[in-house]
Amino acid sequence: MRTQVGIVGAGPAGLLLSLMLEHRGIASVIIESRDRAAIEATIRAGILEQTTVDLMAELGVADRLRREGVVHHGTILRFGGQNHRIDFEGLTGRVATLYPQHEVLKDLIAARLAQGGEILFGAKVTEVADVAAERPVLRFTDAEGAARELHCDMVVGADGSYGACRPAIPTDKRKDYLRIYPFGWFGILCEAPPSSEELVYARHERGFALISSRTPEVQRMYFQCDPNDSVENWSEDQIWAELQARIAGEDGFRLKEGRIFQKNIVPMRSFVCEPMQYGRLFLAGDAAHAVPPTGAKGLNLAASDVWHLDRALGAFFAGEGMARLEAYTATALRRVWRAQHFSWWMTSMLHRFEGASEFDERRQLAELELVTTSRAAATALAETYVGMPYA
Ligand code: DHB
Repeated sequence: MRTQVGIVGAGPAGLLLSLMLEHRGIASVIIESRDRAAIEATIRAGILEQTTVDLMAELGVADRLRREGVVHHGTILRFGGQNHRIDFEGLTGRVATLYPQHEVLKDLIAARLAQGGEILFGAKVTEVADVAAERPVLRFTDAEGAARELHCDMVVGADGSYGACRPAIPTDKRKDYLRIYPFGWFGILCEAPPSSEELVYARHERGFALISSRTPEVQRMYFQCDPNDSVENWSEDQIWAELQARIAGEDGFRLKEGRIFQKNIVPMRSFVCEPMQYGRLFLAGDAAHAVPPTGAKGLNLAASDVWHLDRALGAFFAGEGMARLEAYTATALRRVWRAQHFSWWMTSMLHRFEGASEFDERRQLAELELVTTSRAAATALAETYVGMPYA
């Protein structure tokens, strides 16, 4: 089969791009290794930048998000046993929205299929070929196990951290930047009412904790853990004791507890692959970079990558040549590196580092004081959290 843009991966990057290309009248086909039900059931991040919400609204896929998403006008940084609020709306005029990634994916998949768009679920890419030439080919095994080919003008690798596309860039043609953190996040989903109207990012001597939400009945919480720990090592009582200890303070704040029905450990790393292009192959989202979850930038960065890529592909198919596409790496990476800094900064400001000196701990607290008492510093945090405009 043949199309203009072959997209590998039906995550946020691949789906948003296919919707944007459709608006330009550019044909695309998505090849996705998982089946639809698995994608729509995988619990991932939950926070959308204002910028991402605006993009989804422009694409006409924000109706359910507007109805069911919860607007967060600010967030809480908790340290020294007290809450300190960052007022996103007061500082920036913009907000963040809590709307889980799998709900975003349900909406994007439904919208793309309603356009008559082709998403080949359960199809595994076996070879990303000839991307350095004029006529790339994606070889894949379809859901029935048949070997097939997708011929295209351009290939977009939106197939996540462990997909087939990034390895198609020869190692001597790319540089990988990697930082692995010596901790992970222990995440839970529980049946309980919300403990806080806004997210709580808590710094504590025992380590970081994050209090988030999914629905009025289901809450999402995380606590910093050993990345090599196993969820089986923790009983429900131990998890609640740990979470309660990390948010305890003189103000008497307590978490509302409930049955824990899902547990997982999230590793923490910062990663960037440069360039994000090799010939006619373009990487977007997690295929090109990863951030530690603190500050919830992953999905939002995927959206910004494909916003730039859509414009560059538009210029190419309008007959303007490769110039905009050749500039994609530089354009996209400005926001990527800014998000890298933000995610590293939030992580380092809020986590416990093994072997940190008393000086390091006092300095960390002083930084939190600065961010929660200086309007200028709070604004710097807030405007990156809610997302700067793309252009
Ligand atoms: C969530 C995850 C994050 O990394 C974050 O910064 C905020 C919220 C979440 O899963 O709800």
